[in-house]
Amino acid sequence: MPARERLPALNAEAVPAADPVAGAALAADPAAALELLGRGELAVHGRVTDASNAVLYCTASLDGVTAPCVYKPVAGERPLWDFPDGTLAGREVAAYEVAAATGWALVPPTLLRDGPHGPGMVQLWVEPDAGAPELLDLQDPAGPAPGWLPIVRADLGEGRTALLVHRDDDRLRRLAVLDAVLNNADRKGGHWIPAADGRLYGIDHGVTFNVQGKLRTLLWGWAGQPVPAEALEVLERLAAELDGALAERLAPHLTAAELTAARERVAVLRRTGQHPAPSAEWPSIPWPPV
Ligand SMILES: Nc1ncnc2c1ncn2[C@@H]1O[C@H](COP(=O)(O)OP(=O)(O)O)[C@@H](O)[C@H]1O
Ligand SMILES: [Mg+2]
Repeated sequence: MPARERLPALNAEAVPAADPVAGAALAADPAAALELLGRGELAVHGRVTDASNAVLYCTASLDGVTAPCVYKPVAGERPLWDFPDGTLAGREVAAYEVAAATGWALVPPTLLRDGPHGPGMVQLWVEPDAGAPELLDLQDPAGPAPGWLPIVRADLGEGRTALLVHRDDDRLRRLAVLDAVLNNADRKGGHWIPAADGRLYGIDHGVTFNVQGKLRTLLWGWAGQPVPAEALEVLERLAAELDGALAERLAPHLTAAELTAARERVAVLRRTGQHPAPSAEWPSIPWPPV
């Protein structure tokens, strides 16, 4: 990893959008995006400062098209005691592969490649839509307001409490199903991005696929409720793909036990037909929540 100080520090909210139009068009065309990200020339512009690992803001250029992307070199990863196998980058790619197989386009195109600082994951940069409605809110403890679902009662200090809520939003609900499959241990508010195309993209999937239940998320609004019929159909397809081509695409990034556990999570979701409920053995809510 390069000396961090040699790279300009970029605040994630102020990164220059290389060509947001190309980026947005590519988000809707994953095959073209993967081609550009995989074969394009990577130029590193700076390091995203609010990240816990090395997250480099880059552009990828190929055949006259330039799009913004993130590049997270494996060499910049901090080791995690409870994820002894594989890499964060590999799990991010595995999460993209599973998300792509759902057909929900909930994760920006992501792949593993060599870059200026060695192998790492490269993911299309999704420009956040500053005008998008908030998906999280703090409301009166007597709530939630119509159209919102409760996450947890939050202690604001000095005896005051509020209800942390998320919107009752179909995109979030699909993300909740995807996270249950991925066993995502870090779905906080900063890990989804509402884009200008109206889509919602999940990011930062490095702590996923553990063999132990580690689901930590804000999206508890549907806990214990029936999984929508549309999601059950997707899970049926996913189950078949996890026994076939998808398993082959995941194999380089996950252990055999992690793959088996992923199949089992899909099986449980299909068998119960319910969104999972928070575990008593694991902190189920990321804090701070954004
Ligand atoms: N694909 C992406 N599109 C847009 N912004 C991104 C993307 N990936 C990361 N970011 C920005 O970079 C920040 C840090 O990235 P993140 O994936 O959360 O890294 P870390 O693992 O270090 O927490 C995010 O909070 C977000 O602002
Ligand atoms: Mg993060």
